[in-house]
Amino acid sequence: MKLEIKGLTKRFGSFTANDHIDLTVEPGEIHCLLGENGAGKSTLMNMLYGLLEPTEGQIVVDGEPVTFSTPGEAIEAGIGMVHQHFMLVPVFTVAENVMLGREQTRRGVLDRKAASRLVRDLSDRYGLKVDPDALVENLPVGVQQRVEILKALANDAKVLILDEPTAVLTPQEIDELMAIMRGLKEQGTSIIFITHKLREVKAIGDRISVIRRGKVVGTAQPSASEAELAELMVGRSVQLTVDKAPATSGAAVLEARGISVVDPRGHLVVKDVSFEARAGEVLGIAGVQGNGQTELIKSLLGLVRPDAGQVWIDGRDISRHNPRESLEEGIGYVPEDRSHDGFVGSFSVRENLVLDLFRNEEFSRGPVLKRDAIEANARHRIEEFDIRTETMETPVASLSGGNQQKVVVAREFSRPLKVLIASQPTRGVDVGSIEFIHKRIIAERDRGTAVIIVSTELDEIYALSDRIAVMYDGRIVGTVDPSIPREEIGLMMAGATTSAAANGGAA
Ligand SMILES: Nc1ncnc2c1ncn2[C@@H]1O[C@H](COP(=O)(O)OP(=O)(O)O)[C@@H](O)[C@H]1O
Ligand SMILES: [Mg+2]
Repeated sequence: MKLEIKGLTKRFGSFTANDHIDLTVEPGEIHCLLGENGAGKSTLMNMLYGLLEPTEGQIVVDGEPVTFSTPGEAIEAGIGMVHQHFMLVPVFTVAENVMLGREQTRRGVLDRKAASRLVRDLSDRYGLKVDPDALVENLPVGVQQRVEILKALANDAKVLILDEPTAVLTPQEIDELMAIMRGLKEQGTSIIFITHKLREVKAIGDRISVIRRGKVVGTAQPSASEAELAELMVGRSVQLTVDKAPATSGAAVLEARGISVVDPRGHLVVKDVSFEARAGEVLGIAGVQGNGQTELIKSLLGLVRPDAGQVWIDGRDISRHNPRESLEEGIGYVPEDRSHDGFVGSFSVRENLVLDLFRNEEFSRGPVLKRDAIEANARHRIEEFDIRTETMETPVASLSGGNQQKVVVAREFSRPLKVLIASQPTRGVDVGSIEFIHKRIIAERDRGTAVIIVSTELDEIYALSDRIAVMYDGRIVGTVDPSIPREEIGLMMAGATTSAAANGGAA
């Protein structure tokens, strides 16, 4: 099936999310759609899948103009889509979920046997290993994703849209997905593969279309260098690797021993975790989302109460500190969820730049704020951190994600720190700002701060870390040197004990 997109445009009010997009997907090709967060990729796909109505333009299937007002109509035409967030029923089996999509019933009930058989046939044909009778809620994320793909194939999808499918996967699962994509392609299925990761488009793409601010800004071959692709994606040249000297790590500044955290639902999510962060080094905490990293970090800061364990800074016990007291001990914190824990959206850039600091002598005397000092600080930080804002009085909520993150980073990096804890420091941030934030993190390290980075992006972990601790199922399963291959860390992220973990895990 040949799919052509002609002048497709989508406006939300006065905002143009897709601006006259032209794109052709040939039969049996893997067409990568590369673009930063907010570029308009999902909007385009949602129009293709009948979830959004185009403002202008046309979709053409095998030479015939088509319009889809529901996903059902898109599926009918041979288009399948796997969303960023899966749409499976957790308490149903794989086969039941696949059949749900087809609504094929016998005497009003699901024909379980036929469903199992169909799933088995499809998994054999496309090499998608999955047990038809397993309950979806018991399956790892990577396998759930396969079920979504099976669902689309059961509907005879000729063009399969995968919207950022790798965001939730371990490196091994990504490899497996790529093998599945190659298999589909061999059987003639076209794939639109959406990502913002350069490595992935180079690994799998037949053709690459780059989309920026709602426009297709160019196409590229997979042989293009990562630097060329990044430049197309961002619109200027970017430095993809962080220049850093080897760390000169000093004494342990932060020590955590035996930390356990029970979440509000009563699950033990952090299990007896111990580690130390040393002056002048970056400790990277790697792991797939949801393996206890978030809770571990929050427990260090007093944002959640650990059920067991202790934390020391320079030998002082801070285990019972509340977040303000932790910050006063010299911890800087860039939270994972910046809009919740990082800034107050309705407050101005100026105010947010001193959010936890306004009690400092620098910015207040008793109850009286030093307005001049606060303004001077804002001017300074906006300039230094290149925060793109109309004025310092603009509410932070109206900045782009990348600039919101810069506000948080600017505030946290601008006071004397003993420990810097940054969770997903560049999530949702444009490539240009990633470069900048990474440089600042290394500068902080080189100033002698103990830095802890939590990231689900292995590239980021490698770019920054001097030691890497890998979390799986609430535990640190190993602490390794960044010279070990990605595959080893990938295995650890999936819970396997590797020789590297065994050798280096004694940290
Ligand atoms: N329903 C909507 N209403 C208003 N704006 C939207 C809507 N959906 C998406 N947008 C905006 O359109 C832009 C593109 O979003 P999206 O297509 O999700 O980007 P991507 O998938 O490339 O990250 C973003 O600025 C987003 O805020
Ligand atoms: Mg998207």
